[in-house]
Amino acid sequence: MKIIITGANGYIGARLCQFLAVKSHDIIAVCHPSIPDVDYWGKFFYKIINGDIREQRIIKQIADLKADAIIHLISLDHYDSEKDTHFVSQINVLPTWNLLKECTKTGLKKFIYFSTIHVYGKLEKAIIVNENHPIKTANIYGLTHYLSENICDHYNRNSNTNVITVRLSNSYGAPIFPENNCWWLAMNDLCKSAYKNQQIKLLSDGTPLRDFIHGNDVCQAVELLINSADRPIQESIYHISSGNTHTILELAEKIRTIYKNRYDKTIPVSTSENAEVEDFTNVGNDKRYIIDNSRLRNIGFDPCWSLDKGINELFDYMEKNHGV
Ligand SMILES: NC(=O)c1ccc[n+]([C@@H]2O[C@H](COP(=O)([O-])OP(=O)(O)OC[C@H]3O[C@@H](n4cnc5c(N)ncnc54)[C@H](O)[C@@H]3O)[C@@H](O)[C@H]2O)c1
Repeated sequence: MKIIITGANGYIGARLCQFLAVKSHDIIAVCHPSIPDVDYWGKFFYKIINGDIREQRIIKQIADLKADAIIHLISLDHYDSEKDTHFVSQINVLPTWNLLKECTKTGLKKFIYFSTIHVYGKLEKAIIVNENHPIKTANIYGLTHYLSENICDHYNRNSNTNVITVRLSNSYGAPIFPENNCWWLAMNDLCKSAYKNQQIKLLSDGTPLRDFIHGNDVCQAVELLINSADRPIQESIYHISSGNTHTILELAEKIRTIYKNRYDKTIPVSTSENAEVEDFTNVGNDKRYIIDNSRLRNIGFDPCWSLDKGINELFDYMEKNHGV
């Protein structure tokens, strides 16, 4: 299958391009601002395009390639999404519209849009969050993703392209490229802090909740959604999540335990108030939401990267790269 991946040099895109190329798909990687300067990465790709998605000529170049599927991964992160509204909508919203407007005319079968669970806003109660949960955006990142979701819904109903939105929880794992924008993600940040500083410093009191899913499981989910290019998938929105919610403190304890097993040293964990955590026994609490992934599981999704395996992969990466 001919698949175009935008945001291909990004954190998720770089892994996804490799993953799908190995499965014998013809990958067209759309990179910006430059093509990564490593020969192994693009070796098995059909084509690499270097271009700014704000330019109409890049949209046209993508449409003219008449791909079977497009996976659209371009967005500013939640810090940069707070910048000037014109700039932010040019990156987070308009390209979704321009791509769908042009590519639905050229026989595109599937379009997969990467959105986020930030569209739900703050989730704190003991609830099961499925894809019908009320949307209550609480930041511009969530708002712009929701605007793009609506554009996707419009084209899903009014064109022959099967347009699917995925709402991703929190991806983690070793980056493909050192320059990938990923070390601020909670799991990656805590592992880096453990490896580099031999301590785990939290940015909170440890109670915030997260659903972490390894990058390879994200790739598995996308593969499932595009595999049936000729057959529209019934639902148009899917969660990509592990279905397990952890407190940041639980995560810190797990990382500390794995660190001890690997390096035979117990490292301290401290909260944002610089209080060293002495007691980890109260890390579990019942008031946690679940990002339900049963809709995706019903079409065969089976995440297989445990937190232990993913944390060890991050430590392996840092050993190989002498830190980050
Ligand atoms: N990483 C996560 O845990 C996570 C969680 C939920 C949702 N998402 C969403 O998944 C998608 C991919 O996330 P990521 O972590 O790989 O982010 P990333 O920041 O690593 O990738 C974004 C990509 O967009 C590209 N880009 C930015 N401006 C561009 C422009 N003008 N023209 C062309 N390309 C441009 C960047 O070069 C980069 O390749 C995003 O939409 C993100 O919001 C990610």
